[in-house]
Amino acid sequence: MNELRSADWYVGDDRNAYIHRAWMRRGLPASAFDGTRPHIAIANTASALVPCNMHLGEVARSVSDGIYEAGGIPLELPVMGLGETLVRPTAMLWRNLAAMQMEEMFRANPLDAVVLLGGCDKTVPALLMAAASVGLPALVVPGGPMLSGTFRGTPLGCGTDVWKLSEDVRGGDLTEKDFLASESSMIRSKGHCNTMGTASTMGLVAEALGMVLPGLAGTPAPDARLLEGAHASGRRIVEMVAEGLTPQKVITEGSVRNAIVALAAIGGSTNAVVHLLAIAGRLGLDISIDDFDRTGADVPLLVNLQPSGKHLMDDLFRAGGFLAVLREVRELLDPEAITVSGRPLADHLDEARIWDADVISARETPLQEKAGIAVLRGSLAPEGAIVKPAAATPALLQHRGPALVFDSIEDFRSRIDDPELEVDEDTVLILRGCGPKGYPGMPEVANMPLPRKLLERGVRDMVRICDGRMSGTAYGTVVLHVSPEAADGGPLAQVRTGDTIVLDVEQRRLDVEVDPAELAARTPDAATVEGFATPARGWQRLYIDHVTSASLGADLDVLTGASGPDVHRESH
Ligand code: FES
Ligand code: MG
Repeated sequence: MNELRSADWYVGDDRNAYIHRAWMRRGLPASAFDGTRPHIAIANTASALVPCNMHLGEVARSVSDGIYEAGGIPLELPVMGLGETLVRPTAMLWRNLAAMQMEEMFRANPLDAVVLLGGCDKTVPALLMAAASVGLPALVVPGGPMLSGTFRGTPLGCGTDVWKLSEDVRGGDLTEKDFLASESSMIRSKGHCNTMGTASTMGLVAEALGMVLPGLAGTPAPDARLLEGAHASGRRIVEMVAEGLTPQKVITEGSVRNAIVALAAIGGSTNAVVHLLAIAGRLGLDISIDDFDRTGADVPLLVNLQPSGKHLMDDLFRAGGFLAVLREVRELLDPEAITVSGRPLADHLDEARIWDADVISARETPLQEKAGIAVLRGSLAPEGAIVKPAAATPALLQHRGPALVFDSIEDFRSRIDDPELEVDEDTVLILRGCGPKGYPGMPEVANMPLPRKLLERGVRDMVRICDGRMSGTAYGTVVLHVSPEAADGGPLAQVRTGDTIVLDVEQRRLDVEVDPAELAARTPDAATVEGFATPARGWQRLYIDHVTSASLGADLDVLTGASGPDVHRESH
């Protein structure tokens, strides 16, 4: 056993060791403080305002039992959680704050390891960023997706079907009464969104990164096997302390590439790009936005889940689960990249099987040949923008059309349904001021609803371009994360309604057909600048001053790079 970090607090005959032990005893046996039993935090993002994570207290108890059984001391630590559907202006504004809070509490306390409990979109990324920066042994227990709800006999996909049903109302295909009647069927059980949105994606991506016991991610929240896996994770983290198995040894360039392969094969959320870049940035790994294209672009889509396909997370689990997907792309995985099990990820795939080929396709019969994220560059996005071809309309992936520009989401909402608006299906809708600095926090508004008059004519997709993000549950031909963002000097601020926009995904280009000198000479007008956030104080001020661009992961510049688990100076 390595010397325990917590022993620095608890072992010794001096006054301070006395203080640390005395206040912590409260029924714990003396052996808890003899320097042989690792103290392990169960970092819990549950709260009544994070509905997708509400059940994590129950998961924490199973983790706790496993830790105690294996000789460790479990310590539940409530950490900042973020309810994706509730917090405004966007949960993303606080991903970095949550990660910073967790990092500081992991380091400040007498801890030897951490178990990370997350679920809802930003919670797993924040936990991983924190754990990567602190460098104590860590593993994730993903809270799991909810069971599939149904409305009038048809399964409802969280998020995806909200967008779809609301477009049906606007297009006149569904009454408002029926739309509202579906509301109580949407969320059937505890757990996070059941589509391949950001929460599902990040749980699986965390496993591909090596940070989850293989086979556990994607287990539905109400399934008894989640608690069994939580118990096993509690036992395993105690062994990991003895082995000194830290995130630095698990999250490597190889494991991030495994995560990128997995992201493509599952048809995962575009939000995983900013999260993985931020996690890699915490470890100083040589990973850039271009790795998503290089490593992921040719990976086939194997999972038929909403929003790209039809099924839901419960179906994926029943059909063989994530390991059955990884087995199909095994030769694309780094054979050396280990997981928290201590063994390579690739070694865990032998027993995996596909039980329902309508949900998981074999490599030979993919749903799409090339499913990865495409990274575009050009005069409109010098530092990159992304598009997910699997969620787009193939005919629109090569497109030329006139820009219709909106300076804010409010501007967009006030004009989009105006019958007089000059717009047709060739128009390219552009929304700016929605990047990390501009909003602030980079909200999920890029999947702009289509103009009502076009919906009524049966148009269901158009090219849309934005410096913000889109919900992982959304779909369409949407170019996202345009960098630099408009509020940070990006050319998106200089585009005008009527300029010709050229999208060519095959050539990886996104251009505005305006003479470069003319484009550079244009100064953003007052309405454009008014759309940019100008917070004067508090977190939002700090955030704007320090957030990096989406193409770098939108972390704070002062948080990139790991600083390790060093023990701080004494408090008394
Ligand atoms: Fe929490 Fe979708 S809102 S996972
Ligand atoms: Mg979201």
